[in-house]
Amino acid sequence: MREVMTKSMARNIFYGGSLFFILIFVGLTIQSHFYITGTSTTAAELTPDVAAGKRLWEKHACVNCHTILGEGAYFAPEVGNVMTRWGVAPGDHVAAAEALKAWMEAQPSGIEGRRQMPNFGLTDEEYRQIAEFLLWTDQIRTQDWPPNDAG
Ligand code: HEC
Repeated sequence: MREVMTKSMARNIFYGGSLFFILIFVGLTIQSHFYITGTSTTAAELTPDVAAGKRLWEKHACVNCHTILGEGAYFAPEVGNVMTRWGVAPGDHVAAAEALKAWMEAQPSGIEGRRQMPNFGLTDEEYRQIAEFLLWTDQIRTQDWPPNDAG
C-alpha cells in the first residue's frame, strides 16, 4: 500500500467531499422549503382585525402573564390554542368574540385560591379583534407545540 497520499487522491477527496455536502445542503433546503412553507404557516387569512388584535395583545401586555405558542410568562394559561380548548370552530368568528368577551368581563373572578386576571374594560370591537388574533394563532401549524395544551 502506498504510504503517501498523492495530489490527485487529495483532490478527489476534496471535490468528492464538497459535492457530497453540497448535495445534502441542497436536499435539505428543498425539503424545508416544501415542508415549512407548505405546512407550518397559518391557514387563516391575516386580516387587519388580526393585526389590530395583536396590537391590543401588546398594548395590554397580556404576555406578561400568558404564554402564546409557548413564549411568554408562566403565570397564566397558554392562549395560542385557547379557541380550540374552548371548542370554538376555526371559522366561527362570532362565537370566538362572544366567548372571549364573556371570559374577560368576568375577570377578576375573585375566587379564592385561583390566580386572578385583571379586567381591561375593553370595547366590543376590541374583544372582537383580540378574538380574531387568537383564532388566527390557533390555526398556525405548530407541530404540537407547546407540548402541554394549557402551557
Ligand atoms: C396579571 C396577569 C394577567 C394578564 C396581564 C392577562 N391575563 Fe389572561 N389570565 C390570567 C389568569 C391568572 C388566568 C386564569 C384565571 C383562571 O383560570 O381563573 C387568565 C386566563 C385567560 C384566558 C382563559 C384561558 C383558558 O385557558 O381558559 C384568556 C383567553 C385570557 N386570559 C386572555 C387574556 C388577554 C387577551 C389578556 C390581555 C388583554 C390577558 N389575558 C392578560 C392572568 C392574566
